[in-house]
Amino acid sequence: MAGLVAALGACSAMVHAADENRSLGSIAKESWGKTSDGESVDLYTLTNTQGMTMRVTNYGAIVVALTAPDRDGKFADVVLGYDHLDDYLKSSPYFGAVVGRYGNRIAAGRFTLDGKTYQLATNNAPGGVPCHLHGGNKGFDKVVWDAKGEMKDGAVGIRFHRVSPDGEEGYPGNLDITMHYWLTDQNEFRIEYAATTDRATPVNVTHHSYYNLGGHDSGTILDHELMIAADHITPVDKGLIPTGAFTPVAGTPFDFTSPTVIGSRVNADDTQLEYGLGYDHNFVLSRWDGKLRLAATVYDPQSGRQMEVLTTEPAIQFYCGNFLDGSNVGKGGHAYAYRTAIVLETQHYPDSPNHPDFPSTILRPGEEYRHTCVYRFSAR
Ligand code: GLA
Repeated sequence: MAGLVAALGACSAMVHAADENRSLGSIAKESWGKTSDGESVDLYTLTNTQGMTMRVTNYGAIVVALTAPDRDGKFADVVLGYDHLDDYLKSSPYFGAVVGRYGNRIAAGRFTLDGKTYQLATNNAPGGVPCHLHGGNKGFDKVVWDAKGEMKDGAVGIRFHRVSPDGEEGYPGNLDITMHYWLTDQNEFRIEYAATTDRATPVNVTHHSYYNLGGHDSGTILDHELMIAADHITPVDKGLIPTGAFTPVAGTPFDFTSPTVIGSRVNADDTQLEYGLGYDHNFVLSRWDGKLRLAATVYDPQSGRQMEVLTTEPAIQFYCGNFLDGSNVGKGGHAYAYRTAIVLETQHYPDSPNHPDFPSTILRPGEEYRHTCVYRFSAR
């Protein structure tokens, strides 16, 4: 097996492995073009034993396509994205990408750590208020990662690795980061993040797939049912920066503690919904203990597809595509309109470096950052 995995890194090959004891999925690798700097980019196609496929590129570690079966066993591609690398290079609202070094927002792009103030790029300005978003102008979503196909019992995957250099996008310290993407035979897309640093730095890495369980081109997600295991949100100001308060969800449009149709309250008269243009908020997972457990469930009554989200992180950003406006023309020429996807980003709270009472996002030399996130698919 080791030889087989090594071969995958080196050549363009289709590998299908099966022996008398177990059957494994497959990994295929092809060239997918070049970045504007001339860096070569590859596209991997992973297939599990259940017939699910995931297409992943080493540019931004982007999940380009992911198929899942409906209640009749019919597969559909359930993530928004583009057919070609050039489209991702031109403009993408983080479709399917890893985001970091700090996913989500940092107020005014500024924080103080160990007595030193750092100024990061302010690449976003909701409500006219500039902030740092998703790692800056050239975040983890816009770099080429080292990638290598991997296989193990019950899963096929890709190992991504990169050292984010000291000073990149203004962040301190060389951050050595490894991510494993697994497509398991239990129909799970599993991400395992690990990172170390040589200087103290904030770290908050997450995944930004836009899911539509009816299929990427099936229209609005307002009919999907959502459960989030969160009793509180961290409310935001008009710049989408947490105020520092914790608001109970009970009695508000943010109560998803039992499955609720997303569209049923998205247009309610509520200041938080007004600021987010809909749902775009950090949900604080109840009774967080750092162990992997269920954080959210999404269900599409039409197709019967269900996606459970499990995480070791303390929170989850629920964003429902409020900024999509049809200008991103994606796979198959489909224009992605307003609220046609749901993004569930497992994370630490936004702007944590400026909130000492939030769970810390500071990684120090000698420590290891670890984060696991599982998107598990089924149908009923
Ligand atoms: C995140 C943010 C949103 C938006 C999207 C990208 O999910 O929370 O406000 O910036 O990324 O469009």
